[in-house]
Amino acid sequence: MKLKKLLRFIPFYKVTKPIEEVIVKGLSMDSRMTESGDVFVCMRGEDVDGHQFARDAVTKGAVAIIAEELIETSVPVVLVNDTTRALAMASSAFYQCPSEQLHLIGVTGTNGKTTITYLLDEIFHMHKKKTGIIGTIQVKIGDRTFPVKNTTPDALTLQKYFHQMRQARVNQAVMEVSSHALDQGRVYGCDFDIAVFTNLTRDHLDYHENFDDYLRAKSLLFAQLGNGYNKDREKFAVINKDSPVAKKFIKSTSQGLLTYGIYEEADIKAEDYTMSETGTSFVMSTPIGSVNINSPLMGLFSIYNMLAAAGAAVLAGVPLKTIQRSFEQTKGVRGRFEPVRQGQDFGVVIDYAHTPDSLQNVLQTVNDLTRGAITVVVGCGGDRDRSKRSLMAQVSVNYADRVIFTNDNPRSEDPKQIFRDMTTHLKGSYEVIDDRKEAIRKALTTANTSDIVLIAGKGHETYQEINGVRYHFDDCEVAREILREMKERPS
Ligand SMILES: Nc1ncnc2c1ncn2[C@@H]1O[C@H](COP(=O)(O)OP(=O)(O)OP(=O)(O)O)[C@@H](O)[C@H]1O
Ligand SMILES: [Mg+2]
Repeated sequence: MKLKKLLRFIPFYKVTKPIEEVIVKGLSMDSRMTESGDVFVCMRGEDVDGHQFARDAVTKGAVAIIAEELIETSVPVVLVNDTTRALAMASSAFYQCPSEQLHLIGVTGTNGKTTITYLLDEIFHMHKKKTGIIGTIQVKIGDRTFPVKNTTPDALTLQKYFHQMRQARVNQAVMEVSSHALDQGRVYGCDFDIAVFTNLTRDHLDYHENFDDYLRAKSLLFAQLGNGYNKDREKFAVINKDSPVAKKFIKSTSQGLLTYGIYEEADIKAEDYTMSETGTSFVMSTPIGSVNINSPLMGLFSIYNMLAAAGAAVLAGVPLKTIQRSFEQTKGVRGRFEPVRQGQDFGVVIDYAHTPDSLQNVLQTVNDLTRGAITVVVGCGGDRDRSKRSLMAQVSVNYADRVIFTNDNPRSEDPKQIFRDMTTHLKGSYEVIDDRKEAIRKALTTANTSDIVLIAGKGHETYQEINGVRYHFDDCEVAREILREMKERPS
């Protein structure tokens, strides 16, 4: 592709040398990965500034540099006011604007993103669409899956995934959009057709300066909806009306709006709901009619997730009957309120809850399901928001009968410090067993009939990260193994 063509969505730039004849074979933002024929884009990260590596990239064969500052080098330098935007626009241009050719749904909010993307994927699958997912668990393109590092990848990788989806004839894509990604402009250049908002509570405050900054980052998805792309298709925001910040999200977009909720007036509503240990039932009223929903997904938060998914699916033209059937048959998502059954006479649930709010939700849900005692096994991650540690610990002792604190990815931190942060001002009883397997063993071997053991925080994760090394660890696998041992050697 000609460099000039690659730059066609960047309105103003200056060049240090003529670029008419420059042909581009690829894009790169990491000089270690730069190949001959690439354009190197200098990105300013938190720790390093890509401008420092421009000349390395030229040595590797870069044919041009996109930068914010002048760089002395033999190849043309394209000067732009914002390389983040330039990378997103150039990446989209390089892959022939793939997101414009997909029906793309973005889901943002503190909790429920992964669940909603999977619910939507199941609905669209049933609606005979070929689907793609980009999110926390993995990237899925048709039938193929790829492991991921971040919930939302960088702009270049993202556009490449969209391109691969186009090649695989995927026509429906659903993507989790994290607040980091929005803040860092990784999704400029994505033509979202529908943006879904779930809820907003304190999380990632290690990254964002304060709650307002977090709210602003999340609302960018709605502010950017329909800006400058495929104007032929209508764009919609799907918003949780029961969220205290719903109004701010509604105000941030000028596109079509569909609201959902249980308590507030909303376009899609759940009425007459009931919840049990086998699932949830409710009447879902929508602008195109009402249906009864009976789903194996448990808890009030699952109803919210179903309403959000139904909202996006209705806007995408899926009939209510299909949505109803999909919610009835859903298998749920790995590590999201996932039951572990090995014939034991008490309940075991694995859940990814790793924020005070989601932990409280899950514990309340568990509470609704049993008259027996509740044990929670939980920890807080190292090198992440410290302010949520004491809150998660307090929620645990408030809602569970027995609390075992344990490791959950201590990363570079001393686990003892994490436990101190959790328990210094804690009121209530708890024990600390730092080895996660031993903590789970203690919880399972001391459970009584009808109790529920909630193993929280890791969900689908298959590792424990200690000092930069990821050791294999899978809550579900460990729980199954211990339950099997208990069956073989009853006490
Ligand atoms: N709508 C909801 N409201 C509150 N809590 C929820 C909701 N949906 C799920 N949860 C809880 O949050 C946990 C994480 O759910 P999920 O993975 O779907 O969220 P996510 O937004 O993708 O999270 P992350 O930002 O970590 O990727 C679940 O295990 C569950 O405990
Ligand atoms: Mg997620």
